[in-house]
Amino acid sequence: MNADWSPSSWRTRPLRQLPAYPDPAALETAEGQLAAWPTLVEPGETEALRGHLAAVARGEAFLLQGGDCAESFDELGSDTVRGTFRVLLQMAVVLTYAAACPVVKVGRIAGQFAKPRSSDTETLDGLTLPSYRGDIVNGAAFDAAARQPDPQRLLRAYSHAAAVLNLLRALAQGGFADLHQVHRWTTDFVRASPQGERFEALADRITDCLAFMEACGFDAARTPQLHAVDFFTSHEALHLHYEQALTRRDEASGRWYGGSAHLLWLGERTRAPDGAHVEYLRGIANPIGVKLGPKVEPDELCRLLEVLDPERRPGRLLLITRMGAGVLPQRLPALLRALREDGRAPVWCCDPMHGNTVTSANGYKTRDFGRILAELRDFFAVHAAEGSHAGGVHVELTGADVTECRGGAQGLTDASLAERYRSACDPRLNGSQSLELAFQIAQMLKDGRGR
Ligand code: TRP
Ligand code: MN
Repeated sequence: MNADWSPSSWRTRPLRQLPAYPDPAALETAEGQLAAWPTLVEPGETEALRGHLAAVARGEAFLLQGGDCAESFDELGSDTVRGTFRVLLQMAVVLTYAAACPVVKVGRIAGQFAKPRSSDTETLDGLTLPSYRGDIVNGAAFDAAARQPDPQRLLRAYSHAAAVLNLLRALAQGGFADLHQVHRWTTDFVRASPQGERFEALADRITDCLAFMEACGFDAARTPQLHAVDFFTSHEALHLHYEQALTRRDEASGRWYGGSAHLLWLGERTRAPDGAHVEYLRGIANPIGVKLGPKVEPDELCRLLEVLDPERRPGRLLLITRMGAGVLPQRLPALLRALREDGRAPVWCCDPMHGNTVTSANGYKTRDFGRILAELRDFFAVHAAEGSHAGGVHVELTGADVTECRGGAQGLTDASLAERYRSACDPRLNGSQSLELAFQIAQMLKDGRGR
C-alpha cells in the first residue's frame, strides 16, 4: 500500500505554516535524536481509538475531545494536567449518565504545542520579528532571541509530552478515574457554583447506584470498567519534523503509525490536498481529524477525503466543523449530503469555539457561552434533520478558575474578563462553564434519542 509514500515524502510538497530554521544542521541533529527515542503511543492503542470512533460514526457512542488551545512549557505543574483531566472526567460522566451514552474521551493534550499563524512576522513599535508559533518552535516573548526558531524545542516538546502522558496514564488507570471516586473530581470553586451543586447531586445518584448494585451481589472489584477509563491524546499535526521523527512502521500490520498521539488533525490552513501536511497524514494509519471552516465546498471536501482515506476504513476520519453560530445551518447540510452520496460515514464533531471568537469592548479575545451553545444546538438540529449522527464535541477548556469566556450560569461579563484571564492563546471555558456545557449537551443527546 502507498508505494509512493514515505514518512519524509511530505518534504517534496509545499510546506505551509512552518518556519525556516536558521541552522539546518542543528535541526537535523534534533530530528535524529527524536527518531531514536521511543514513540509516545502504540499502534494497538491507536487502533482501539479507531474502533471507538467507528462506533461513534454508527451513532453508538459520543466523542468528547477537549483541552487547551495551546500547551506551554512553563505549565508543567501537574495541577494543570490534573485540572484538565478531572473536568473531562466530569463532563464524560455527565454525558454517560444523563444521556446513557458511552463516551470516547480524547484530550487535546500532550503535544498541542504548535500554532498556525496568519502572518510570518509581527511588528511592534517599529520592530519586526518572526511570529510566535508555539513553544515547540520559538518563545512568546517579543525579543529577537526568543522568536528565533530553536530545534532544541522539539526535544523539550517530546519530554514535556512524555511527562504529561505519564501522568494522564496514571490518572486514567491508577484509581483516580474510578467511579467510586466521582465526588473527588470536583474542585472547590466548581463545587460552590450552581453547576457544581448539580454535579454533586448526580454524583450522589451514581454513588447510591453503585452501593445498591453491590448490595445486590454485584462484584465491583471484579469489574475493571468501573475503575479506569481509556483516555486518548490528540493535537494538530502541524510540526511535520516532529511528527516524522516519531513515525514508525508496525511490524505486525505493515502500516505506518504516527507515534506522537493517537489522533492527529489537519487545520483549516494546512489542508490543501497538494500540501505537505496532507501528504504526511495520508500515509499514517491513525484516525485523522479535519477542521472545516465555513468556506469549505462539498466537492473540495470529497477530493480531500479520497486522498486521506481511499480505503474507507471505519473510524479513520473525524470531521470537525468550526463554522460559527448561525452559519453552520447554511453550510453543513450540503456537506452531509455530498458525503452521503459519496458513500462516506465519517465521525461528525462540532467545534463550537473557533467560529465564535470576538473581541470584548475592553480588548479581550473572548467567546460567549450563549453563542457556543447556539452553535451546538444548530449542530444537533442539522444532523437530526439530515438523518445523520451528531457524533461529538471539540472544546477548548481548562480545569482552572479562569475568566476568559463570557456568560454561562456564573454570568461572566466584560468586566469579569480582567479578573483571571490567563490564556496566552484562545479563550477557554472554565471548570464551571465546561460542566454546564456537558449538562446541556446531555440534554440534546437525550432529546435526540427520544425522536
Ligand atoms: N470505564 C467506563 C467508561 O469509561 C466507566 C467509567 C469509569 C467512567 N470511570 C469513569 C465514565 C469516569 C466516565 C467518567 O465509560
Ligand atoms: Mn484555539
